[in-house]
Amino acid sequence: MFDQLQALPADPLLGLIAAYRNDPNPSKVDLGVGVYKDEQGHTAIMRAIQKANIRHIETEDSKTYISPAGVPGFIDSVQKLVFSEDSAMLSDNRISGLQTPGGCGALRIGAELLVRLKDDVTVWLSDPSWANHTPLIKSAGLNIENYGYFEPSTGEVDFQLMDETLAKLGPTDVVLLHGCCHNPTGADLKFEHWQRIAERASKQGFVPFVDLAYQGLDSGLNEDAKGLRHLSENIEEMLVATSCSKNFGLYRDRTGSLLFQTANSANSSAVLTQAMEAARSSYSMSPAYGGFLVNMILNDADLRQEWETELNAMASRIKDLRKGLLEKIVARGIDKDFSYITKQKGMFTYLGLNKDQVHRMRDEYAIYMADSSRINVAGLNTHCLDYVADAIKAVL
Ligand SMILES: Cc1ncc(COP(=O)(O)O)c(C=O)c1O
Repeated sequence: MFDQLQALPADPLLGLIAAYRNDPNPSKVDLGVGVYKDEQGHTAIMRAIQKANIRHIETEDSKTYISPAGVPGFIDSVQKLVFSEDSAMLSDNRISGLQTPGGCGALRIGAELLVRLKDDVTVWLSDPSWANHTPLIKSAGLNIENYGYFEPSTGEVDFQLMDETLAKLGPTDVVLLHGCCHNPTGADLKFEHWQRIAERASKQGFVPFVDLAYQGLDSGLNEDAKGLRHLSENIEEMLVATSCSKNFGLYRDRTGSLLFQTANSANSSAVLTQAMEAARSSYSMSPAYGGFLVNMILNDADLRQEWETELNAMASRIKDLRKGLLEKIVARGIDKDFSYITKQKGMFTYLGLNKDQVHRMRDEYAIYMADSSRINVAGLNTHCLDYVADAIKAVL
């Protein structure tokens, strides 16, 4: 039977990780995989997570199943983090949700919900978007289209182009938006863009699906959710996929949530039953561990303070690295405008190199990045900035 299945080509990003690992060059730099790294290139366990971990191990007295909705309290805490403590939508019970295996699980269960609607839904993704959005959503059986988004010459969002597509959308369309720290471009929507999207969604009836995978990794927990909160206050329905992979560093513990805002509390309860059934019929229920830790941190003043402090330090280190890289590039007199690097947000930016140049970076300098020249800024450190800037100058 299985001889019918052909081997697939290796995932390009996973192939990059393996090639980096096997590279003996002591100067090698990994800018490929999208995980936060510290100055030593290590993805450390956050301090609040370490403490919560110990407390949890000491107090957990059962490994019995949790509910398909997740760890008790987790969703309430995450909802407040995302929509704010005083969200009217929360007090009106118009938001509900379930814990999911990471942001990927949230996107997939969101897609499964949309497949259950009577209408054939089209999901609109930014061009470009995170590489996993298409497979996650398409394999649930949904149509996918793209809206114009990124202008490479400025490194910013071309909102006019995006808005031309939005103008044509209606009630059978879902628009996937990156809540902050757009992956892969680093180009975020400005607040006035969120306002425009809210106006259009409310008038035309399309539904936003916000992927919030990096809350707190740019301008703070509240600021990074500002666009999403504006949508929530001004439109009837929306979906949100959250991830605790980056902001709690829980990558392998697969912790996230799918949240939905509906027109009234009855719809909210109904949608939750559908989402739980979608989860039940695939992986049954989310891994619990990360949910316990996140819920503990969000509800303990000391742990929360420690977590927020560390998260803010991570965000400001990324900003410093952006600034440092730009300074080194400018100092080398490279004849290309890289000033967008410091205007962009979060972990990613494009270096604007072609495939040959990316391969030269890898083969001649052991600097690893995706063929698109997307780099993970957090993979840099103050010691390698000169080396990376020299290599960029050489390949350009
Ligand atoms: C834009 C975006 N959404 C969602 C995710 C999902 O992350 P995870 O499933 O690891 O929580 C990622 C991870 O890189 C991402 O970049």
